[in-house]
Amino acid sequence: MKALILSGGKGTRLRPLTYSGAKQMVPVANKPILWYGIEAIVKSGITDIGIIVSPETGDDVKAKTGSGELFGARITYITQEKPAGLAHAVKVAQPFLGDSPFVMYLGDNLIQDDLEGFLTKFTQQQLDALVLLREVENPSAFGVAKVAQDGRLIQLVEKPAVPPSNLALVGVYFFSPLIHQVIANIQPSARGELEITDAIQYLVTQQANVQANQLSGWWLDTGKKDDLLEANRIILDSYLATAVEGEVDARSQVIGRVAIGAGSRLINCTVRGPVIIGRDCYLENCFIGPYSSIYDQVTLIDTDIDHSVILQRTKVVNIHQRIVDSLIGQRAFLGVAERRPKALRFMVGDDCRVELMAAV
Ligand code: G1P
Repeated sequence: MKALILSGGKGTRLRPLTYSGAKQMVPVANKPILWYGIEAIVKSGITDIGIIVSPETGDDVKAKTGSGELFGARITYITQEKPAGLAHAVKVAQPFLGDSPFVMYLGDNLIQDDLEGFLTKFTQQQLDALVLLREVENPSAFGVAKVAQDGRLIQLVEKPAVPPSNLALVGVYFFSPLIHQVIANIQPSARGELEITDAIQYLVTQQANVQANQLSGWWLDTGKKDDLLEANRIILDSYLATAVEGEVDARSQVIGRVAIGAGSRLINCTVRGPVIIGRDCYLENCFIGPYSSIYDQVTLIDTDIDHSVILQRTKVVNIHQRIVDSLIGQRAFLGVAERRPKALRFMVGDDCRVELMAAV
């Protein structure tokens, strides 16, 4: 059994963060999203992993993720020249996959359920495909499934205007090598992509043995800002363990589950967990509220922040209003000038969003 993780694509819904890297490398609770998928796969016993990358962001994924030693796996990188669909990615990966069955995992998805149970079912019942489903409120945003009482998959449609159910296709699929023959026979969809949904539907039409399983735990698709903040909240809530390696001075208060990395210093701060603060950060006169993740080498001075994610080497200084529900990229600077400025000064990158309070 092998695994294929998809970590290509353009990440348009997470711009501007995705101008400088892959969306799958954006950290959730200070760990790239992609790594959660790798860890889940290795935990299920699969160690031969192919990762699909794009020419634009592949080097970043490779440099940070490496060849597998970090995870006890062997990682092979496969470049998909253009984002031509999930089934196209499988086609590109065929030399790596050979005639092995495999689990395909979309690198921006996170699921709470362990993969072992699904893998056992897929293997023992010798299925041609096993898909995972979750009830959602907005099925039109996903692939949608219709399932028989016995769990057999009857129909799959990609982002239908009129969904046949509220069961969305989660980005984790198990396939036998039969999928390659099917992919050779499908045509690009209206959005110009070779859809895995169409390939699975083709298997169903051919009377192949395709089953569906509903997840019992949460499922997070982290492709947009609010989804990413929600993923950060749930991961901190579920997994964060207290670990204070940095220095916390006597005037600071650390309450609840809080992790502070080595080399970080907190001076006169209140931190109310769950909160993770990375390595080599400097925080002075700050309040850090629940569900915040502060990555490495961040400086925060006179800052009050809550339910937010800040990426590495960013500096936030003297903002006296509380910052909430925010996602702030790498090496950014947010501050208030020392003397009362007559004007606001910005250098804001493409696709950024800045919301200021109206003067009172
Ligand atoms: C893809 C699949 C869709 C699935 C979703 C899960 O959509 O095409 O069937 O429900 O992933 O994350 P995309 O994220 O490419 O729009």
